[in-house]
Amino acid sequence: MPQLSDTTRGRILFGGDYNPEQWPEETWTEDARLMRDAGVNSVTLGVFSWARLEPEPGEREFGWLDRLMDLMHGNGIGVVLATPTSSPPPWLGRLHPETLPRDADGRIEWWGGRQHFSHSSAVYRHHAAAITEALAARYADHPALTMWHINNEYCTFDYGDEAAVAFRRWLRAKYGTLDALNSAWGTAFWSQGYDTWDGVLPPRHAHYLNNPTHVLDFKRFTSDMLLECYTAERDIVRRYTPHIPVTTNFMPLWVGQDGWRWSEEEDVVSVDLYPDPRDPLGAQSAALVQDLTRSQAHGPWMLMEQAAGPVNWRGVNHPKPRGLNRLWSLQAVARGADAVCYFQWRQSRQGAEKFHSGMLSHAGERGRTFQEVKQLGAELARIGEEVTGSHITSDIAILHDWNAWWAGAQDGRLSTEVEYPEVLRAWHRALWESHLATDFAHPEHDLSAYKLVVVPQLYLLTDTAIDNLLAYVRAGGTLVSGFLAGIADEDDRVRSGGMDARLRELFAIRTLHEWWPLDAGETAECEGFRGTLWSEEIEPEDDNVDEVIPYKGGELDGLPAVLRRGRSWYVSTLPEPHALRALLARVADGAGVRPVLAGAPLGVEAVRRGEVLFLLNHGREPVTVELPDAHRDLLTDETVEGELTLGRYGVAVLRP
Ligand code: GLA
Repeated sequence: MPQLSDTTRGRILFGGDYNPEQWPEETWTEDARLMRDAGVNSVTLGVFSWARLEPEPGEREFGWLDRLMDLMHGNGIGVVLATPTSSPPPWLGRLHPETLPRDADGRIEWWGGRQHFSHSSAVYRHHAAAITEALAARYADHPALTMWHINNEYCTFDYGDEAAVAFRRWLRAKYGTLDALNSAWGTAFWSQGYDTWDGVLPPRHAHYLNNPTHVLDFKRFTSDMLLECYTAERDIVRRYTPHIPVTTNFMPLWVGQDGWRWSEEEDVVSVDLYPDPRDPLGAQSAALVQDLTRSQAHGPWMLMEQAAGPVNWRGVNHPKPRGLNRLWSLQAVARGADAVCYFQWRQSRQGAEKFHSGMLSHAGERGRTFQEVKQLGAELARIGEEVTGSHITSDIAILHDWNAWWAGAQDGRLSTEVEYPEVLRAWHRALWESHLATDFAHPEHDLSAYKLVVVPQLYLLTDTAIDNLLAYVRAGGTLVSGFLAGIADEDDRVRSGGMDARLRELFAIRTLHEWWPLDAGETAECEGFRGTLWSEEIEPEDDNVDEVIPYKGGELDGLPAVLRRGRSWYVSTLPEPHALRALLARVADGAGVRPVLAGAPLGVEAVRRGEVLFLLNHGREPVTVELPDAHRDLLTDETVEGELTLGRYGVAVLRP
């Protein structure tokens, strides 16, 4: 299988989405000059070009793209060529309204924006395949072609009639009989029993709470249908260019795709990442996505899109202060990216994203954004050879599963304050701030390489996953679990006792009497810290429990907030950040896991990628870091020994 390294060839890919159909051709020549100036070596062409390539059904206009491909090649810039299938031309919706998706209320998502396609529409799929085939046939041998980019940020749900037919087909394949479906969905409750397959619909707008397993299966179905769209196009391009890697860009922790399944179908795993420059934990939430993407890729990955300055889809959109774009780009490289790319090259003057930044902003060549982009391009070129292709080793795995998120997010849950991504973030943050390197893994993955496994929240766990966790601990691993773990089976049936019996035994929980969710801002006093979000009324197995940190005061006074049996820890609340950090640092230490750089100050991120140590100062004040050995800074080519001072947003890329 082709890989990212086939495209990078020892360089970090640097560039971004290039949408030149918005500009007269004179601008293209200037673009090429400025790209060369900035060290751009890769652009993504064609993401939104369907109407330009096929202005009328079956007609093809490739001349402009031919000239662009040649122009890029002539300037030494590789092309990641996109299939344009995320934004069908207006004629497709006009001539074939069944290609348009419907929301849960039955409203049509019309053309005029983008991503207005039904994954289940045979007509859409037919036209998408045809334009993909035409592109693949035309550019298979073009020397600029370095990668295929299928569609863009797959994300459409469809509750329409054709999707209903496809959903039934999917359910039949899964359950075989209606009895099995009725049993899995628990349709005996509220008189929902189905007597014919035709009665089964997508979970459309209902009077009151939809059946949660129905909703869960619909999410699984949507992920699978979008994946079918992806693999159909991937297979077409592969037929023409088996040696060229294929990717599609994920959105960070987006709810709609089972990322573990999807990444198995890609040659290159890529992600779009837009942390808020004003978010004090922006770097940490980026680190989380980077760790997850690297784990999905099992190695180097591609930062397909980020913003050089502001985005335009938050309420208030802040620019990146001087140095932040460089810092966050090098952070991605530190955490395994071999490609640092943007949406988009030149900021648009028209259309919905004209206030979204580009590498070349409205301020032009002299603008700070472009000047910083240019500096970054030169720095990436300097370190590319030393870092590309290298891996990060981690002794810790955080377990994450989209199915558990989907099931846990149901409308009838006990607390809407508990948001899965936030809980994941809190646990990752505790490890990140302790300078502990972390991978992510699926709960059914082989965990034997890890000394510590962390379960922030896996409300739904399959029997296979539970067996896997038990086997991991039996083989000597250390496990820490947060609350709401192993509550439901894969059909979202609550396990007897309210939590899987084997897990209760593992953690020495005799009875889980009640869940006690906390209100927004409410805390639960525990010995030595405060808990947030959640608390539990647990009766421990006194003979088996090795350590307890109790709740103090209130209804749960004296009951365990945290309990440990052997190497298994259970945390029934979300400790406030400093307490979770201290707890995990202690557990990691006990499991023999060492931080990347002992004593590194809070706010400095230390990552070891291959032999190279990255130090990143996320603060605006200079900090001093103690280095045990002499290193060469690949950015400055200077030798550093003893103490190293990192300025505001400063970065050092150190080789022993
Ligand atoms: C996503 C899309 C891009 C663009 C950016 C804006 O990443 O893929 O086309 O809309 O968002 O942030």
